[in-house]
Amino acid sequence: MSLPAIAVKNLVKQFGETTVLHGIDLDIPQGKVSCLIGPSGSGKSTLLRCMAFLEEATRGTITIDGEVLGFSESAQGVRERLPAATNRAIRSRIGMVFQQFNLWPHMTALGNVSEALKTVHKMSRKDAEDLAMAQLVKVGLESRAGHYPAQLSGGQQQRVAIARALALKPKIMLFDEPTSSLDPELTGEVLNVMRDLAAEGMTMVVVSHEIGFAATVGQQISFLDQGKLLFTGAPSDVFRKPRNPRLEQFLDTYLDRGASMLV
Ligand SMILES: Nc1ncnc2c1ncn2[C@@H]1O[C@H](COP(=O)(O)OP(=O)(O)O)[C@@H](O)[C@H]1O
Ligand SMILES: [Mg+2]
Repeated sequence: MSLPAIAVKNLVKQFGETTVLHGIDLDIPQGKVSCLIGPSGSGKSTLLRCMAFLEEATRGTITIDGEVLGFSESAQGVRERLPAATNRAIRSRIGMVFQQFNLWPHMTALGNVSEALKTVHKMSRKDAEDLAMAQLVKVGLESRAGHYPAQLSGGQQQRVAIARALALKPKIMLFDEPTSSLDPELTGEVLNVMRDLAAEGMTMVVVSHEIGFAATVGQQISFLDQGKLLFTGAPSDVFRKPRNPRLEQFLDTYLDRGASMLV
């Protein structure tokens, strides 16, 4: 077994008095697609945001490629914040795509993808735009490079957001319900881009209600319910009966055609 891309150990997250993650242990394997499913409010986004260090865990550790992110924790539970530069360097290996595309409305697709390359990575305009264009080609949007977000469909906007994340050359990509704000006819083009990325061997963690995608592209599936991981396994194990009753209930609600063919 190689080192996990992400190792989550006993992760607890509280917001004030409320505990939303109750001691999560999860290994995300390198070069595979790990899917996270579960009802609304179960803590999927919070877990993903902790992995990206957009949220600080209350207890427990997150290790990226063997390096601890955010806080080290002693056996006695004493937590120590790691230096900001260390966290920035580890954090930069992770790209994230959200349900809301969050594109800058006043910039073209090319501008959206190249902006951070110029401002954060100090690349020349030409190099930044060349790299950005290569990413737009990858998501099939080279002909839309000069379009503004308002001139693009939701699916195209999300593909620009994926290109923007990829331009920063992440080793791990996190997707939080990337198709949930899209009309059904536009989800396919985004899932296809994600499928291509998976085929290239990108390490991906995908939160999605597209159970068909999880069943066919996912190599590890975890089921989160009320802040607890109730199940982690291969897709064939998720869809094998008998199931955990909570998982059964969840799948009854969310099963789409793609997955039901596999059940
Ligand atoms: N910033 C926050 N402050 C307080 N509570 C939050 C915050 N973010 C999420 N929560 C709560 O944490 C729980 C899990 O939310 P979330 O991770 O968004 O679940 P999911 O993504 O599975 O729908 C919910 O009860 C939600 O209300
Ligand atoms: Mg969420």
